[in-house]
Amino acid sequence: MEVRDSGLFQVAYSDSALQELHRFDITIGSGRKAQTFLFWRNGKYFQLPLSYFILTNSWANSPGFPPAYPKFDRMIPSTCFGCHSSAVGIKNVSMEGLHLSEEFEKNQLVYGIDCERCHGPAAEHVTFHQEHPQEKDARHITKIASLKNQQKLDMCALCHSGLGAPQKPAFEFKPGDALSDYFFPDFTRPEKTAEVDVHGKQYQLFTASKCFIKSDGMNCSSCHNPHNNERDQLQAFSQRCMSCHKADGHTFCKMTTLPAAVLSKNCIDCHMPALPSRNITMLTRGQTSPTPDSMRTHLITVYREETKKFMAALKK
Ligand code: HEC
Ligand code: HEC
Ligand code: HEC
Ligand code: HEC
Ligand code: HEC
Ligand code: HEC
Repeated sequence: MEVRDSGLFQVAYSDSALQELHRFDITIGSGRKAQTFLFWRNGKYFQLPLSYFILTNSWANSPGFPPAYPKFDRMIPSTCFGCHSSAVGIKNVSMEGLHLSEEFEKNQLVYGIDCERCHGPAAEHVTFHQEHPQEKDARHITKIASLKNQQKLDMCALCHSGLGAPQKPAFEFKPGDALSDYFFPDFTRPEKTAEVDVHGKQYQLFTASKCFIKSDGMNCSSCHNPHNNERDQLQAFSQRCMSCHKADGHTFCKMTTLPAAVLSKNCIDCHMPALPSRNITMLTRGQTSPTPDSMRTHLITVYREETKKFMAALKK
């Protein structure tokens, strides 16, 4: 990696002779887990061979990249941007042999997940309310509260149910649409929920949990407020568990060896522990076996091993 006048670069040398030189043009990922980087060349985005991983606080090969040589030809399709951005500006789509080849407009990428990715196109809504400032009832926008519970779940599952085979571009999704219209059915889905990888499958894991199955109308907003950054606020999340699992109710925790005051600060590490991903692993310099990335499982249940770890950490 090199700092040059025109930016940061990943550079490949062979016997001191420069082979490839590409700039960090685009970053994918907030850096909660990792960041990977893209460079722009002739209307296309390509992934750089090195990514940064928070778990090991180090650089490692980008997922799926060979350890033996630096690869610079992995093209990034619009499907990545469909979950990781708000618009990408596709200029042209054609077939190159058996592969789909996409060409993009330069500087048309809209970063982040903006309001319209969840709430749908809002231009008419904005125009109407600018012209009618006294009108307090929202017009020309889907009211989330009026949607069925499955529709609310599908809004999040569009990006949080893993990498299915797309039927339609995720960018076309509007609140109220059905997830099944956007992905082909997943015939490779493991039979046992315990085998679903924790990476990116929050929808499958959560909807297999007893909390969801045995309650009426629970969805992602039962715990998450998508408008706030609530990262690592385990006590606040635990309060939301206790809106159903009341300390004096019959579905409160049966872990009687801990006082309720300790329990109530953190339901999460015992019932939604961070577990190793099978799909995302990394091999850093000097390691002989890969380190798995870890994700909060959304299969909410009893984890005996994680409980032991929690108790041991508490004693320390
Ligand atoms: C258009 C795609 C998309 C949609 C729709 C979407 N998400 Fe996400 N969400 C993402 C991506 C991508 C990330 C990972 C961001 C990162 O770390 O780079 C993410 C991250 C998150 C996180 C972790 C945030 C953090 O920093 O701790 C939560 C929680 C979350 N989403 C909840 C939701 C919920 C709830 C919904 C539905 C109301 C939803 N998302 C809809 C794409 C989406
Ligand atoms: C990750 C998806 C997501 C994003 C991004 C998002 N929202 Fe929301 N928003 C929701 C969900 C889900 C609800 C319903 C929350 C609930 O049921 O408690 C909601 C509710 C609302 C409401 C209340 C009206 C209603 O339809 O229920 C307003 C207003 C709103 N959002 C505005 C915004 C604005 C403005 C932005 C951008 C700054 C934004 N939202 C970004 C998911 C999102
Ligand atoms: C179906 C939606 C979807 C697609 C398609 C997708 N991602 Fe993601 N990606 C996510 C979500 C959601 C997360 C957040 C972590 C999680 O839940 O696994 C994530 C996490 C990441 C992260 C780690 C960010 C962080 O710090 O949390 C990187 C890097 C990343 N994706 C890159 C890519 C690349 C490159 C592609 C295309 C090859 C891609 N993603 C395709 C949804 C998607
Ligand atoms: C909307 C209400 C609701 C919320 C919020 C909720 N749960 Fe539940 N949960 C339930 C219901 C209902 C059951 C099933 C109880 C029964 O068996 O009768 C359940 C079951 C469970 C079980 C037993 C699972 C099993 O496999 O035996 C655990 C553990 C649990 N919840 C923990 C949590 C935690 C931790 C949170 C917060 C992260 C949470 N719950 C949030 C309603 C909820
Ligand atoms: C019962 C409560 C609960 C429900 C329901 C729930 N989550 Fe979460 N979620 C959590 C908690 C707790 C965390 C961990 C927060 C942290 O560590 O910052 C979390 C973390 C996440 C993360 C970050 C993952 C990671 O490993 O960093 C994503 C993405 C996410 N949730 C998406 C969703 C989506 C999408 C849904 C609906 C399908 C959903 N969640 C439903 C409680 C919940
Ligand atoms: C130290 C780890 C730990 C913490 C913290 C913890 N639990 Fe538990 N929980 C367990 C274990 C272990 C069991 C199984 C107990 C048994 O069956 O003997 C359990 C059982 C449960 C059950 C199932 C009860 C039943 O009917 O079988 C629920 C619901 C639950 N916990 C909710 C919670 C909630 C809500 C919190 C936070 C207020 C919480 N737990 C905090 C470890 C923990």
